[in-house]
Amino acid sequence: MQIVTLGSELLRQKAEKIEQIDDEVTALANKMLEIVKTDNGIGLAGPQIGVNRRIFVTHINNDEKRIFINPSIIETSLKTCKYEEGCLSIPGIYSNVIRCESIKIQAWNEKGRPFTLEANGLLARVILHEYDHLEGTLFIDRLPENKRKKLVEKYENLNKAEKT
Ligand code: NI
Repeated sequence: MQIVTLGSELLRQKAEKIEQIDDEVTALANKMLEIVKTDNGIGLAGPQIGVNRRIFVTHINNDEKRIFINPSIIETSLKTCKYEEGCLSIPGIYSNVIRCESIKIQAWNEKGRPFTLEANGLLARVILHEYDHLEGTLFIDRLPENKRKKLVEKYENLNKAEKT
């Protein structure tokens, strides 16, 4: 399965709610976790593989594999922090991004069971990054415009270099 990259409209849509959590959704979630592992990522959202549905997975070192279906961020801390992010859909581009330090999220797992989770640090960051994908938002959108322009230019140059 190929990862959708920057420039594709598929990354810019609002993902649709998953109406039924069935075997197909479980298989999708497991496939996404495989991709995260293969591509050395720590998270992946449906739109990144062309699936415009509200699902994402995370797998950070030292943390379990996690699946979030139809998630809602129900609490965010006032305290923010800055940390370097990248994205499988924008390979080669990294930047510090300011985000809330801790969050509370409600979602369903692949068995159709609802759960809430409090997260902080890197897990909170990955969850917010992946949640953004469901809204058609990328981490570069959270940067000042001049910084974003520079990074997009850099990305385009990297792609050009790769093609020649
Ligand atoms: Ni991403």
